[in-house]
Amino acid sequence: MRVAILPGDGIGPEIIAQATKVLRTLGLPLELETAPVGGAGYEAAGDPLPAKTLALAKEADAILFGAVGDARYDKLERAKRPEQAILGLRKALGLFANLRPARVHAELAAASALKPEVEAGLDILIVRELTGDIYFGEPKGVRDAGGEREGFDTMRYRESEIGRIARVAFEAARKRARRVCSVDKANVLETSQLWREVVSAEAAKYPDIELSHMYVDNCAMQLVRNPKQFDVIVTGNLFGDILSDEASMLTGSIGMLPSAALNESGKGLYEPIHGSAPDIAGRGVANPLATILSAAMMLRYSLRTPQAAERIEGAVARVLQDGLRTADIYTAGMRKVGTEQMGDAVVAAL
Ligand code: IPM
Ligand code: MG
Repeated sequence: MRVAILPGDGIGPEIIAQATKVLRTLGLPLELETAPVGGAGYEAAGDPLPAKTLALAKEADAILFGAVGDARYDKLERAKRPEQAILGLRKALGLFANLRPARVHAELAAASALKPEVEAGLDILIVRELTGDIYFGEPKGVRDAGGEREGFDTMRYRESEIGRIARVAFEAARKRARRVCSVDKANVLETSQLWREVVSAEAAKYPDIELSHMYVDNCAMQLVRNPKQFDVIVTGNLFGDILSDEASMLTGSIGMLPSAALNESGKGLYEPIHGSAPDIAGRGVANPLATILSAAMMLRYSLRTPQAAERIEGAVARVLQDGLRTADIYTAGMRKVGTEQMGDAVVAAL
């Protein structure tokens, strides 16, 4: 099984090093090949997504991705900026289905900003459409509008794009509590009205699933008021970007959340949902657990080795039970450890 390892920028290389260490401990026939991406890609080849990196990603059975982005590259033209690497990979590989679970580890309940009774036992899955919407819709740009500049982007969704992400959500719900909440802004946006219609039509094929609809502003509020009302949330690219960051904080730290981006044949890119955190890069304090848990998702969804995935998840639970905490999830009385020590502890627990 070939895995493309794309560490990226900022804390990316540090957290990926811990995840690859964990993968190597499993004793599986994995071939791990590393390539530069993001700012690192720009430094190596003048392109955030170098041709060689893209080729490797296409050939591999799965991709483990760190994070991209650094203020150093913010002044570059858009096509050269690090974010284009992840957007380009998603588009080039057709990774339309983004699974972002938000689960509260019992041991970390104290790290959440919410009251324990509001978030204890929380288990939500956000299914975010990842290759359409205002992220990729054309036309977009900045044009002259009678003496001043005007920026514009286009929100678009085709029925086929809405239908296939809805099916992913319904199928996922079948393995969970069988409830799907579709989030849109149908009171204002045409795109959202179509979204709601198509999701409702797909739901007819899943009579065992309970479907509800919610406006995105209300959903943002409900997520902090009573997050346990949700099982699966399905939504478009932009709303999903925002709501998944919000949901991550319900669990105590964005440093804990893995994600998968899958295409129609089940090939996937796996990444922590947090970014490159340039402010703490190189200091050895970043939390590697989201990346390690992303590697577990990779084993489950793309490499079809669910037992190995469970071993990793069990090992992570174990180190948390043992009281080990990186700075982002630290609470009084626990043992504060750095990135590498946390990775070593997971390896030891394996
Ligand atoms: C994410 C990130 C990306 C996105 C950025 C880095 C382009 O925020 O994966 O959520 O907006 O999709
Ligand atoms: Mg985001």
